[in-house]
Amino acid sequence: MSDALARVEAFIAGTAQERLDDYVDFLRIPSISTLGEHKSDMIAAAEFVASRLAAWGLEHVEVSPTPGHPVVYADWLHAEGAPTVIVYCHYDVQPVDPLELWVRPPFEPRIEAGRIFARGAADDKGQLHLHLWAARAWLQADGRLPINVRYVFEGEEESGSINFDAWLTANRPRLDADVVVVSDTGFFEGNHPALTIGLRGLMYAQIDVTGPSLDLHSGTYGGNVQNPAIALARIIASLKTEDGLVTVPGFHDEVRVLTADERAEFARLPLDESDLVQRLGVPELFGDPAFLPLERRGARPTLDVNGLWGGFQGEGAKTIIPAHAHAKISCRLVPDMDPLRTFERVREAILAVPVPGVTVDVTVLSHGMWSLAPIDHPATQAAARCLEEVFGERPYYLREGGSIPAAASFATMLGVPVVLLGFTNPDDQAHAPNEQMVLANYEGGLRTIVRYWEALADLPR
Ligand code: BES
Ligand code: MN
Ligand code: MN
Repeated sequence: MSDALARVEAFIAGTAQERLDDYVDFLRIPSISTLGEHKSDMIAAAEFVASRLAAWGLEHVEVSPTPGHPVVYADWLHAEGAPTVIVYCHYDVQPVDPLELWVRPPFEPRIEAGRIFARGAADDKGQLHLHLWAARAWLQADGRLPINVRYVFEGEEESGSINFDAWLTANRPRLDADVVVVSDTGFFEGNHPALTIGLRGLMYAQIDVTGPSLDLHSGTYGGNVQNPAIALARIIASLKTEDGLVTVPGFHDEVRVLTADERAEFARLPLDESDLVQRLGVPELFGDPAFLPLERRGARPTLDVNGLWGGFQGEGAKTIIPAHAHAKISCRLVPDMDPLRTFERVREAILAVPVPGVTVDVTVLSHGMWSLAPIDHPATQAAARCLEEVFGERPYYLREGGSIPAAASFATMLGVPVVLLGFTNPDDQAHAPNEQMVLANYEGGLRTIVRYWEALADLPR
């Protein structure tokens, strides 16, 4: 270990309590990007991040507006001759419902058994926070960073990144870089260190089925009109077989066939299926039997219903024919699918279902591209070495099922490798009640990043 890195490690060891307090303060801000009533909380979270960056020596710190929530930008560009790294994380979080399942309120962080519980603890405020402290540790302990950095912290990742590509285009002049590091992924089942090398894309849409202009008495009018909820049920049921295969014509046309080598890589990952079944609380796993569960997660497309509503939801009985019914649906996309082409195909399949007596509308809410990271690139290999040095285990390489639209946007726009280097524990309950981060992962993540900055200084360019 270099003398500089030893000083940085000593700074980290000496600031554990201050760091944890600061992390807790960050988690107290309810930065839910998708809900309009949290607009001022989003500003507060952006300003929290910007204030740390400015106080700890980063430059050009800016809460940069978009038509939605701001992007926080900052840089430090004084490592002459060294590579430039863009760091991407997001400071927004998912909604917290159902609230009654939280042991403690989601924005009142609780520490128990080596884990910190709060919305955003893992996804992604914990990971963003450790990056702030990695910069602070270098700048305070050594007066410099070994590389040039540009921080790009998004506020709309959890609501579909709808303004992010335009922000990237408008800010292209200050985004020159050699590599992008995204910290928004995590470890493998059993909390084994991992590097993510694939993410799925996403197409998110809404179906609105409209019948009579008002809810109708189901006795007076039952038998005279089509029921929008039943029409919607027919539509949804038509999109998949009972074995769960997507029936939308053309849906699989561009799906890249896995090579024998890729399938061997998937088969090597030690997934304990019965353990997974138990953890998820399901009677059994479900999906295309032609593929392993991890292949279905990482390399096969899906079509799912995310929400379904219409008619009477209250206690007891209410005899109506609902005026309308709705569904949110989404597809996870894999190489080489195109998000909008997939939307058109799904829309056509929905509109082709014969449901007379109602009108059906299908609208796309957001979409993002899949991505594959270059496993052999020296920046990826250096990340693997740093993970191994800190966590004492060689990392797995994973193709994950989740989506980070920004990863593909960076790769396309900048033409540089994107390294998906994240530290969350796989049982973190991201997007669910009692989200949590293993504090040892947070601390190890911080120690991996400070090391990685030094390792990247020697990156062949
Ligand atoms: N951090 C996740 C993405 C992720 C999940 C990566 C699991 C690897 C494994 C990210 O915050 C996320 O939840 N993304 C959304 C994207 C959507 C809102 C466009 C997702 O995947 O649902
Ligand atoms: Mn995330
Ligand atoms: Mn998320």
